[in-house]
Amino acid sequence: MTTLLEPGHSGAGIGGATVKRIGVIGTGIMGADHARLLTHAVSGACVAGVFDLDADRARGVAADSGGARVFADPYALIADDDIDAVLIASSDATHEDFVLACVAAGKPVLCEKPLAPTVEGCARIVEAETAHGGRLITVGFMRRFDPGYTDLKALLRAGEVGAPLMLHNVHRNPAAVPGLPSSALITNSAVHELDITRWLFDEEIAEVAVHTPRASGQAGGTRDPQLLILTTASGVLSDVEIFVNARYGYEVRCELVGESGTVTLDAPPPTSLRRGGLHARALPGDWRPRFAEAYRLELQDWIDGTDGGATAWDGFAATFVAQACVTALESGQRHSVGLPPVPGIYRR
Ligand SMILES: NC(=O)c1ccc[n+]([C@@H]2O[C@H](COP(=O)([O-])OP(=O)(O)OC[C@H]3O[C@@H](n4cnc5c(N)ncnc54)[C@H](O)[C@@H]3O)[C@@H](O)[C@H]2O)c1
Repeated sequence: MTTLLEPGHSGAGIGGATVKRIGVIGTGIMGADHARLLTHAVSGACVAGVFDLDADRARGVAADSGGARVFADPYALIADDDIDAVLIASSDATHEDFVLACVAAGKPVLCEKPLAPTVEGCARIVEAETAHGGRLITVGFMRRFDPGYTDLKALLRAGEVGAPLMLHNVHRNPAAVPGLPSSALITNSAVHELDITRWLFDEEIAEVAVHTPRASGQAGGTRDPQLLILTTASGVLSDVEIFVNARYGYEVRCELVGESGTVTLDAPPPTSLRRGGLHARALPGDWRPRFAEAYRLELQDWIDGTDGGATAWDGFAATFVAQACVTALESGQRHSVGLPPVPGIYRR
């Protein structure tokens, strides 16, 4: 079999008709889930190779993926002629090296968020892809594929609520690990809302502020919850309540306020129970059931080569804005973001 990408291909996705042979690096919660989707729920792809530092975990995912090869070295997986593209779902600190190796090998790569945990790391990746001269990298901001968010954006674009004024976001998890750094609420969780705000309004975030009420007694020293106030370049406000010890369940919802109406994105499912004086709707335990369809659509888009996913520039911008929010959290002051200009290959 030949590599599907011809020289000069400029898309980040993996176009072409043959089944794409995917190598998965990192087979923990997300890697195992992506491998299962690629094997059973996405057309035109198979998991051909896996690597994880935990070899037992890699072997388990390989067996569930119809007998994928278990590699002993992640760079050998990236270089292998029988791997067409690479999915990176290892821990955050490993992303940069693996993404750079994929770009050096000229292979499309879908990297889980964050592209890299530091602005400098993201910048090195953007520079490498720019030097390569075309897009190879997609970043796993899957909410861009969630049917609720895509409907919201379509209604906004169709002018159904007029010009946007505000976006109110709520992002709650039942419980976080004790001792979680306060900055992780921004860099690991609210980073999704940073990306969604940029994506929904098609503009950059210009200024940020972070407010904290007294910390929850359940938060074990972490400043939880936090309220981020993001101001876009045109003056739209996007506020994000991030609360990772909310106890009752996982919930993501938002309301867009426009000049002539609002759009509410509520948590699925559509079914609800009325009994004994209560009207109840089940909440998911975490992000996987809530965004199951978004993950599937994200992977299908990548395999189809449609290039609808977040770019390396989007990954850079998300980490850049997250760092500005961490600075604002630590200083208690409003902070100007000051993103550098978008490199040519990412301009639409
Ligand atoms: N898009 C989303 O909604 C979403 C949700 C959760 C996590 N994530 C991201 O996905 C990635 C994985 O998260 P997770 O929850 O699956 O974590 P996890 O801890 O369950 O899995 C991480 C895996 O990476 C492996 N690993 C660590 N160092 C490695 C290395 N050098 N080479 C290969 N494998 C290595 C670990 O052994 C582990 O199996 C993280 O970057 C995380 O931020 C994204």
